[in-house]
Amino acid sequence: MSLTIDFSDRTVVVIGGTSGINRGVAELFARHGARVAVASRSDDKVTATVESLQALDAEAMGFCADVRDLDAIEAGLAQVHDKFGDFDVLVSGAAGNFPATVNGMSANAFRSVVEIDLMGTFHVMKAGFQHLKKPGASVINISAPQAFLPMQAQAHVCSAKAGVDMITRTLSLEWGHAGVRINSIVPGPIDGTEGMARLAPDEATRRRVVESVPLGRMGSPADIGQACLFLGCDLSNYISGVILPVDGAWSQAGCGDLSSYLGDLVRQIESGK
Ligand code: COA
Ligand code: NAP
Repeated sequence: MSLTIDFSDRTVVVIGGTSGINRGVAELFARHGARVAVASRSDDKVTATVESLQALDAEAMGFCADVRDLDAIEAGLAQVHDKFGDFDVLVSGAAGNFPATVNGMSANAFRSVVEIDLMGTFHVMKAGFQHLKKPGASVINISAPQAFLPMQAQAHVCSAKAGVDMITRTLSLEWGHAGVRINSIVPGPIDGTEGMARLAPDEATRRRVVESVPLGRMGSPADIGQACLFLGCDLSNYISGVILPVDGAWSQAGCGDLSSYLGDLVRQIESGK
């Protein structure tokens, strides 16, 4: 069987695309011929990522914005639209995470993750819609297993990502008439990323996570990138409103014992033991 995925003359925008999983997604689209724009808070990270995309021979640009700031996201996306035209694919993946129990976190700590993950997704959807190719665009929200599996020390992330997936499902209804598809991807444990550094900070925990994945390994940013290519291209023309785990069946296995491990660890730290 031969299959060619060609994003030449297509515009792909990746919000939060300057490190980890989302940068891997941006790079994979670039390798398949797309014009790619990325955005995040850090000027240095945006510049470094645009340079790496250009080194792959892609037309690339970036802008600095905090997803909590709707005006900044609107202004940045307008700049991308001016230069690159209608968006064929919009990926929204900016997020924040730290392990803390509800008893151990302030209201502002809870709010900061809800504002980045949930309000940030809302802002990207709200500001992005006008620039999407209609019909034909594909929107991908990057979610997490915490959206549907309760996990200790993750109430803020669980609440925010559950909201992200409900935005995805609701917009699949509201945007279908415009010919816009929207889906969520739920990454499993992705090796070498900031997310895993925060949840599995030592080698012993990393090994336990690997052992709890039915497919027997952590994922890579390219694993998530390949799922984004699929959802971004014509192969998935009739798929919208789907929450797609790309996780080696980790979430089917309840994400192993990460919840109880994190709960015990964080309670110990918070009680000063
Ligand atoms: N435990 C408990 N509370 C914590 C915490 C922790 N480990 N880390 C941060 N907080 C609290 C802060 O104390 C603050 O609350 P306060 O004002 O009541 O003291 C609140 O969270 C916001 O922290 P702040 O550092 O001001 O927020 P920020 O907007 O600068 O950064 C974060 C947002 C905290 C999510 C930061 O970790 C971040 O930028 N993360 C992005 C990268 C990331 O998380 N990657 C993984 C993605 S899965
Ligand atoms: P990461 O490297 O920390 O990536 C987060 C990206 O978002 C960075 O580019 C960061 O850049 C940007 N960002 C963070 N806060 C922002 C804000 N307020 N405004 C704009 N941009 C912001 O994390 P990752 O581990 O690769 O995670 C990427 C995505 O995958 C997240 O949505 C996460 O929830 C999801 N996920 C990860 C895993 C995993 O195993 N890592 C598992 C499940 C789900 P700046 O710092 O420059 O802003």
